[in-house]
Formats: sequence, C-alpha cells, structure tokens
Amino acid sequence: MPAIVVVGAQWGDEGKGKTTDILGTSVDYVVKPNGGNNAGHTVVVGGEKYELKLLPAGILSPNVTPVIGNGVVVNLEALFEEIDALESRGADTSKLRISANAHLVAPYHQTLDKVTERFLGKRAIGTTGRGIGPAYMDKIGRLGIRVQDVFDESILRQKIEGSLRQKNELLVKVYNRRAVSVDEIVDYFEPFIERLRPYVAETELMLNEALDRGEVIVMEGGQATMLDVDHGTYPFVTSSNPTAGGSCVGTGIGPTRINRVVGIVKAYTTRVGAGPFPTELFDEMGEYLQKAGGEFGVNTGRPRRCGWYDAVIARYAARTNGFTDYVLTKLDVLTGIDRIPVCVAYDVDGQRVDEMPVSQTEFHHAKPIFEYFDGWTEDITTARTFDDLPENAQKYVLALEELSGCRMSVIGVGPDREQSIVRHDLLD
Ligand code: GDP
Ligand code: IMO
Ligand code: MG
Repeated sequence: MPAIVVVGAQWGDEGKGKTTDILGTSVDYVVKPNGGNNAGHTVVVGGEKYELKLLPAGILSPNVTPVIGNGVVVNLEALFEEIDALESRGADTSKLRISANAHLVAPYHQTLDKVTERFLGKRAIGTTGRGIGPAYMDKIGRLGIRVQDVFDESILRQKIEGSLRQKNELLVKVYNRRAVSVDEIVDYFEPFIERLRPYVAETELMLNEALDRGEVIVMEGGQATMLDVDHGTYPFVTSSNPTAGGSCVGTGIGPTRINRVVGIVKAYTTRVGAGPFPTELFDEMGEYLQKAGGEFGVNTGRPRRCGWYDAVIARYAARTNGFTDYVLTKLDVLTGIDRIPVCVAYDVDGQRVDEMPVSQTEFHHAKPIFEYFDGWTEDITTARTFDDLPENAQKYVLALEELSGCRMSVIGVGPDREQSIVRHDLLD
C-alpha cells in the first residue's frame, strides 16, 4: 500500500488528526500538503491531549518522518513555538522535514488578513486571521517568499522588496496602516534561519524515493472539501485545495501513486466562520451537540456551528475526491438522542434537489429534507467491533453508508487512539 490521502469531507474538524495519528503507528511518512497554522488538530494518546496546528499529526509517532510539503504556507514563529511545546513534553521532532519550496507567512500577511476582513464588513469570511489567504495570494501572484529564499540574504531582500512595494501602497493608501520596511521583515526572519536549516529538504524527491522503496506515506490534508477554493462554498472557503487532487500538487507525488483516498466525516456537521450551512441548528439541540462534542476551535477558540449529518455533502465529497473509504467520527456524541435526523436531499425554492447545487444562490436557499433514525442510549465508547454497537447505532451507520456514496471503513467512538472500530483496514 503506497500513498494514502486523508481528506476532510465537510467544513473541517472532522477528526483528520486522530485518523492520521492512528495510521501513523504503522506508516513511514506523514506529509501535510496544504494550509498552514489555520488548521487545528487535537490528538489524544493514552489520555494525553496534544494540539497541533502547522505540524502533521504523524509527529506523535516515533517511527514516522513528518513532512511539511511544498503546498503549505509556513509561519516560522508558529512552527518553532509548536516544536518547542512538543519537545517540552518529550516528543522528538528532529525527523521533521520541510520542503524548500513551501512558502512563508510574513507579518504583513497577517495584517492584510485582518484588515481585509474588517473591510468586508458583513461579508467577512471569518478567517482564522493567520495570514493564510494573503500568503497564498502572493504565491499565486508570484510575489511569495519561499523557505529556500531565507538562506540567501540578497535573494531574500529582493523578494521582500518586490512584495512590499505593492503591499505598502495597499497598507498605507487603502487600509490606512503604516508602511513596512524591508529591514523589519529581514530582521523578523533572521532569528529562525539557522534553526530552520537542518529541517529543510527536497521533500518531493525524498517522498518519491520512499515510495520506490515500498514505504508507506499518508498525505494529511488540512481543512476540508467544503472549504476548498475550487470545490467548496466559495467565497466562504480557505485559499488552498484541501481536496484529494491538491495533495498531489502540495507534495510532488503523482496521482498514479495514490491508491487510497480516505474521507473523514463526522456523524453530524460543524462549521467555523461564515457561510451557508443547510443543516445548521439554532436551537438547544445545536448547543447540546456543541457541548457533547466539545465543538470549540483548537485554533481560535471560536465555538463551532453545529448541525445534523448532511448526506448530500457526503456524496458530493465522495465524488469530488474519489473516496475509497470513509472514516465516520464522533458517533459516540449522538448517544442519548431520541431520533436522529439525517439530511438526504434539499428543498430549493420548492424543488427537491438530490445533488449539491452548482449555483451559490441555490445552495444559500437549500433547506434540508430529513429522514429520521431511532437513537440509542447505551455507552458506545468501549465498543471495538461493529457487533459491539447497539442495533440502532449499527442501523444509523449502515444508513449513512448507503446515503454517502462510499463504505464506512472505520468508526470513531471516542477521542483516544484506541477508540475506533475498524471494519476495513485502511492499510490493506
Ligand atoms: P481535525 O481538524 O479534522 O483534525 O479535527 P479537530 O482535531 O479539530 O476536531 C476533532 C475533535 O474531535 C478533536 O477534539 C478530537 O480529539 C475529537 N475526536 C476525533 N474523533 C473522535 C471520536 O470518534 N469521538 C469523539 N468523542 N471525539 C473525537
Ligand atoms: P482543520 O484542518 C475549520 C475556515 C475558517 C474560515 C475559512 C477561511 O482543523 O480542519 P482561513 O484562515 O483559512 O483563510 O479561513 O476557513 N477554516 C477552518 N475551519 N477547520 C479548519 O482546519 C479550518 N481552516 C480554515 O474558519 O471560515
Ligand atoms: Mg481542526
């Protein structure tokens, strides 16, 4: 089994970190292809909780080489804070490798992220404020600074100068902020340079050579399908491609080398930030899910909006990513709910729609059409086989499988590494 891609199926926070952590115990490399420190993954190992942002979840498995791929935007300050925090808890981060082609997030990207949001007013996206959008804008606009640039001061200065010429016009004339000097930014990067050097590698070659040797690689996508800049709920999305195709671009691994694409989907739905969300709950049931599921962002601490499982989105994600398997997480959170609604289609202005509407207006008008499933009251957190689940929980999973366009290979029944039911081995 060579390369496995892990992709969020909804709006993020499905439990991708836990999934790669579980896989990490038996794989060789875990590579992050996209995003930056806008992500937030909580991983629980033996009751110990770890919160990761920029680092891939594989960093917690001693045998894994964790990799930050070329498609990531790296904030060096956040990187070393995270490394220091993990090392102070005894984790070894020396095997981490970072692509020389990954882009860097500079302080002016964070400033621009915040002022752009402020200027959008009611149309704000609710970004994480980490400068992710502006850093990707510079990458696509060919004004970005890459990891390799910091090792040549003259190149670094030239690139910062090129980028700031335009930024300062924007900052001063449009946003009424102060101009930023080249020296200031060089001085910002300077203290990180020697510390960064041993981590930097030609990760694209390294990963392909690992595949040639028959080693196993997990590509751990950040964010999720519905936050994808092409396939998500644009403009309420992030600025990268978290879908499966993006993992090839963001790592330098070709699509023919991938033979498993695993979607991570929560047994209900959450979303952080603004944008449409057809099954969102505005009543005490929404608050219940938020509390029972601990739905508060790792990254910004914002409460996550909560709603029922949306099978239209699950089918769309299965199709867009070509999922071979689903990992269904947080089934345990639904324990104790009498009747569980599942959205099977939408009502769009009086018409039944079974597939994701292509028009933004239609999606904004979509009202969920629910089917209802009987709940269960038994504690399922100690279930380790499908048969251990109460009959109604089994029926719920089988119904989701039928509705979601892909088999449910693993079921999460708690946050710990051990709390999973494996129906089909993801590494087979
Ligand atoms: P990610 O961004 O996709 O990695 O997900 P997050 O870590 O942001 O959010 C998922 C949360 O759910 C974390 O707090 C996990 O510890 C937790 N979690 C993951 N799987 C399960 C599960 O099956 N049951 C429960 N109760 N919690 C889970
Ligand atoms: P993980 O990897 C949930 C959301 C933000 C905002 C939008 C754009 O933990 O699933 P950005 O800062 O990326 O420009 O924000 O995307 N967002 C996430 N929501 N989980 C994430 O990551 C997210 N990363 C970005 O809330 O709506
Ligand atoms: Mg998260």
